[in-house]
Amino acid sequence: MDNLTIQQQGNSHTFAGRNAAFFKALHRAFGEQADTPLKILSFGCSTGEECLDIQKEFPNAQVFGTDIKQSALKQAMDKCPASMTIFPSNEAAIAQHGPYDAITAMSVFCKWPTTSELANISELYPFSTFEAGLVNLVRNLKIGGILLLQNAQYMVEDTRLAGHLHPINETFRESSGWIFKCLPDGTRVTTTSIEYDGKVWEAKEFAAVYPIDANDPNNSLPFRMLHRWHSDTVLNGRQPDIALWRKMSD
Ligand SMILES: C[S@@+](CC[C@H](N)C(=O)[O-])C[C@H]1O[C@@H](n2cnc3c(N)ncnc32)[C@H](O)[C@@H]1O
Repeated sequence: MDNLTIQQQGNSHTFAGRNAAFFKALHRAFGEQADTPLKILSFGCSTGEECLDIQKEFPNAQVFGTDIKQSALKQAMDKCPASMTIFPSNEAAIAQHGPYDAITAMSVFCKWPTTSELANISELYPFSTFEAGLVNLVRNLKIGGILLLQNAQYMVEDTRLAGHLHPINETFRESSGWIFKCLPDGTRVTTTSIEYDGKVWEAKEFAAVYPIDANDPNNSLPFRMLHRWHSDTVLNGRQPDIALWRKMSD
């Protein structure tokens, strides 16, 4: 396999239903168009559960799945029906099957858990890797198409795509994911907190009192996850809790 896209997350952890709430929100964002044969790409589909979840939410869609890890992709090919197209993540193949009405990138644009304790992630995960990967990917999204970006460690507003991607103000209980955000120099600037029962909790504190998996869409606690900004002065219009982005121009 040559010409593979730039490696982002190395870990292939996934499970069925993991991002179902996000796919429901994507459905709402498409409105009536959601029932048409949309072309949807799962970028970083791992072992294929995500492709199946997308098809469940969009029964009429043409679902594509790609991953850079051959062992995960083989399992995805075995698991997914022949009606789906599963292929190695290289630029030519992504372009050949596109352009897409929607692209999902769930827990792909990060290095986790290796960066989890770092105040600066630039050595392990430089901004340039994120930006180059995202720019190349979004090239294959139709104008008017939607990017669903979850658990990205950097922000769209800091990339060359700022101004070309507009935030869709659909709010999620799980925000844009639970992984913290960084500035382009790698400095960590957010902490994920949880609002519940009139209080703001640190994620660890919350987990100790409510022993549920806050990332499990099947738990029914009406909490709200938010990225708490470390300094009010640098927010500069960045919206760390946005997961859905509409492509307005190339
Ligand atoms: C943590 S898994 C996420 C799986 C699934 N999207 C989910 O949310 O459950 C991240 C996946 O992204 C894949 N990945 C990393 N860089 C990639 C790239 N450039 N192209 C395609 N997949 C990539 C990894 O191989 C891994 O399988």
